[in-house]
Amino acid sequence: MNKDIVWHEHAIDKAARAAQNGHKAFVLWFTGLSGSGKSTIAGALEQELFRRGVHTYLLDGDNVRHGLCKGLGFSLADRQENLRRVGEASKLMVDAGLVVLAAFVSPYRADRDAIRALLPDGEFVEVFVDTPLAECEQRDPKGLYKKARAGEIKNFTGIDDPYEAPEQPEVHIHNHGRSVSDVVAELLAQLQARGLLAV
Ligand code: ADX
Repeated sequence: MNKDIVWHEHAIDKAARAAQNGHKAFVLWFTGLSGSGKSTIAGALEQELFRRGVHTYLLDGDNVRHGLCKGLGFSLADRQENLRRVGEASKLMVDAGLVVLAAFVSPYRADRDAIRALLPDGEFVEVFVDTPLAECEQRDPKGLYKKARAGEIKNFTGIDDPYEAPEQPEVHIHNHGRSVSDVVAELLAQLQARGLLAV
């Protein structure tokens, strides 16, 4: 870091924004295999939070890769850079008072932990969307597993690239054979229990 660049403390801080918004700001980090249901769950939860007047923003892997992270691929280094940018963007959004719902495969524990380390304790809530690979592959909503099996896509998570499951996620969602609304209800209960839905 250039020593001539000095951090400036501004008057409006996180606590002031939380008081004005009527709720805390934090990141809900959804990790899981492609096709596990991360974006669907994050989207449904966001709608419910929005309905309750919570200020939210959803960051989604597939969308962010069209802009902020355009040009990055799926090598270890590119995934790391993808998540570093998203982590920094999430941190800014939390500072701005938002509840950030981030849905990224984020297959490496070290990359997820690096984002956790950017935020104060309790403001990074890791949600493991746990769906068996066989089920994700059967769903194959974008036809990518088929391509990966055919060798047309390399480094595909779960096929020829690893997925390191979270060891102690704040929330562990078993997302097989249950409805989206049931999962959303479980997440809301978790947020409530953690005192995250109030100031
Ligand atoms: S991450 O690993 O860097 O966190 P990210 O969530 O941004 O991944 O993007 C994953 C999405 O890109 C998947 O949902 C899938 O649609 C698509 N994709 C394309 N190639 C790959 C790949 N090699 N591995 C995983 N997902 C891929």
